[in-house]
Amino acid sequence: MDEQLIKTVNKLQDAFSTVGVHNPVDLPQIVVIGSQSSGKSSVLENIVGRDFLPRGTGIVTRRPLILQLINRPASAANGDASDASEKKSEENPNEWGEFLHLPGKKFFNFDEICDEIVNDTEKKTGKNLGISPVPINLRVFSPNVLTLTLVDLPGLTKVPVGDQPKDIERQIRDMILTYITKPNAIILAVTAANTDLANSDGLKMAREVDPDGTRTIGVLTKVDLMDKGTDVIDILAGRVIPLRLGYVPVVNRGQKDIVSKRSIKSALDSERNFFESHSSYQSKAQYCGTPFLARKLNLLLMHHIKITLPEIKAKISAALAKYQSELEQLGDPLTDAAGQAANTTLSIITEFCNDFRSALEGQSTDLST
Ligand code: GDP
Ligand code: NA
Ligand code: MG
Repeated sequence: MDEQLIKTVNKLQDAFSTVGVHNPVDLPQIVVIGSQSSGKSSVLENIVGRDFLPRGTGIVTRRPLILQLINRPASAANGDASDASEKKSEENPNEWGEFLHLPGKKFFNFDEICDEIVNDTEKKTGKNLGISPVPINLRVFSPNVLTLTLVDLPGLTKVPVGDQPKDIERQIRDMILTYITKPNAIILAVTAANTDLANSDGLKMAREVDPDGTRTIGVLTKVDLMDKGTDVIDILAGRVIPLRLGYVPVVNRGQKDIVSKRSIKSALDSERNFFESHSSYQSKAQYCGTPFLARKLNLLLMHHIKITLPEIKAKISAALAKYQSELEQLGDPLTDAAGQAANTTLSIITEFCNDFRSALEGQSTDLST
């Protein structure tokens, strides 16, 4: 996630919380949907940049996972976060996870987070491939994230196996609809590039709830597994199923990489290598891969914030005016701490709007690439 965006949004959020307003911006939730094993969990994990989601062949994600990333500045007592990331160990005292079902327990080891997701999935659904709409709520605190919610979901599947209900297809559809119907959701519709786009369950569902395609990004996974001589160029050019916000091709870690515990960093390096050295993608490598997907998401988030800001500003101004007139009736000048805090907030928002205007002017406003 873009550092400037993280800083600006956090500043705004902090300013608001001093006057008792939490989450004023209400950032969109990012939801991944698609067929089973299309690579949804892999995509989400690459965006977050930490290993903690169960991934693999077959139905691995069997309950919704609501992942709240919460920005929390590094504590001086804990040492510098950048130091910690240099260390061999993946543990960092400034980054940890907490589950809603295990209040107060901090997980500094992300492998243990992954184990707990598996544990709690089995508790609610048994070991034999059952599913449940009861979400797992995980919060990850870190200095390096944007305060944002991401949702990982079971994949669309048609034929029940193991303890799965006869109507598994409908149950999973309902589960997915709960999350993507919200106008505030950004849909990452994931399709494996070695399958036919016309059969993409993710795209079909996205179109049902977002017919204009204003909040759906197409993600093409497994580009590395396509037959020799084939590529996704026609899809990227919008010649197959056009999507207003376009498609991003990515290469995630394969099953072998999962088994050998290949790191995200090494996977991102080879992803870049793949696109830069492939004759079909060479000339457009900057529009390929996980970093480009992250940038596209940032742009969408910025756009969303830009649209909501005038409304937030108007609300604060109205509240301030009301407050001011109430105080005047009481014969008190607006000098108390609360009044000052409100004034400060307003000036920070104004500054923020200006920052954003210039940031956005520097960017292409055409979100389609
Ligand atoms: P989900 O079921 O949609 O959440 O998919 P997962 O993220 O669990 O991935 C399913 C399987 O596909 C795993 O074995 C992954 O290693 C593999 N996989 C996902 N994306 C890619 C990719 O881009 N390339 C390759 N080679 N394998 C991938
Ligand atoms: Na899977
Ligand atoms: Mg999954």
